[in-house]
Amino acid sequence: MSIIRLHDKYFKQYISEDKIQAVVKKMAQEIGREYQNETPIFIGILNGCFMYMADFIREYPGNCEVSFVKLASYTGTSSTGAVKQLVGVNQDLEGRIVVILEDIIDTGNTLEEIYKIFSDKKVKQLKIATLFFKPDVFRKELPIDHIGMSIPDKFIVGYGLDYDNLGRNFGAIYQLTTKPKMKNIVLFGPPGVGKGTQAAILKAKYNLVHISTGDIFRDHIKRQTELGKLAQSFMDYGNFVPDNVTIDMLESEIEKNPDAHGFIFDGFPRTPTQAVALDKYLTEKGELLNGMVALEVPEETLVTRILERGKTSGRADDQDEAKIRHRFHEYHTKTEMLKDFYSEQHKYFGINGVGLVTDITSRLSQVIDNL
Ligand code: IMP
Ligand code: MG
Repeated sequence: MSIIRLHDKYFKQYISEDKIQAVVKKMAQEIGREYQNETPIFIGILNGCFMYMADFIREYPGNCEVSFVKLASYTGTSSTGAVKQLVGVNQDLEGRIVVILEDIIDTGNTLEEIYKIFSDKKVKQLKIATLFFKPDVFRKELPIDHIGMSIPDKFIVGYGLDYDNLGRNFGAIYQLTTKPKMKNIVLFGPPGVGKGTQAAILKAKYNLVHISTGDIFRDHIKRQTELGKLAQSFMDYGNFVPDNVTIDMLESEIEKNPDAHGFIFDGFPRTPTQAVALDKYLTEKGELLNGMVALEVPEETLVTRILERGKTSGRADDQDEAKIRHRFHEYHTKTEMLKDFYSEQHKYFGINGVGLVTDITSRLSQVIDNL
């Protein structure tokens, strides 16, 4: 569950990848049963159908042929009414079973055009199989033979569908949503990479609230609160505080800042469970995580840096090389995979973290300005 931005608009995850795959598989099997002893030709309506077509024919149980035509009717988020044929039918379809694969049927203007295009092709049968259908806006008296899912009249993107050419490359379907009010950034990287230093600069520059889970836990430890005592028993050994404790603590920190323009999360999320919880929490508030910006520095440089910092920071976990190595081990085994988690959402931005503080800030800013 997450929110994404495409051009000037925001979209909230609406149908998961798994759900779409299940629907497509069911359609392929259903249609396969209908044409057991035939070789139908599936014609995809480009551009939107390409993912649907690819998944559909892989699930299709029998022989089949594949072709495409290209039509266009949409600009932005509403139909222009006029449908143009950009790439037409270029093979003989006489006597063939033709199944049209449409990504989505909305007003039905495109469908009407499809029926017109195929009316003089002498096909044996013409069938329509659309993945999505918006019954509330459909205006035509035309048959649709297979419908994957009926959905409300809200603009969607993903899984081949676009908003002004963006969004086709997402595996899930996203639905138009209101503009989030905040800018939320995860500042990411292994221990000692400079997250704290950069966060302090960036929070002033972008007027954001900086939440460092490590700093908050250390503050509780200093005041010897219940939470502090619990956290200490893990942190002193370079271990992670359990996810549920960290997530509750983080959410209560966010709640303390209802007027924030956004947050810089530093040291959170640290595990996939935390990342999923953060996505869910922000999405429920109508907010998104704009991106994960990650500082990248070679590990040996970091160990030296942390030992240096340990001389003045007073942090037990900064002074002992074995503990530092253990923190890296924890990072590699439990945290580093978050890179994949955010890459899948097209939200991971790696930045060279070696150099002057000011240079690194400007590298970070180049990314953050565009989020
Ligand atoms: P129709 O001609 O109004 O039925 O619209 C069909 C075409 O409009 C589809 O093939 C899509 O290209 C586009 N379209 C309709 N609804 C949506 C939507 O919610 N998201 C993205 N494209 C859409
Ligand atoms: Mg289309």
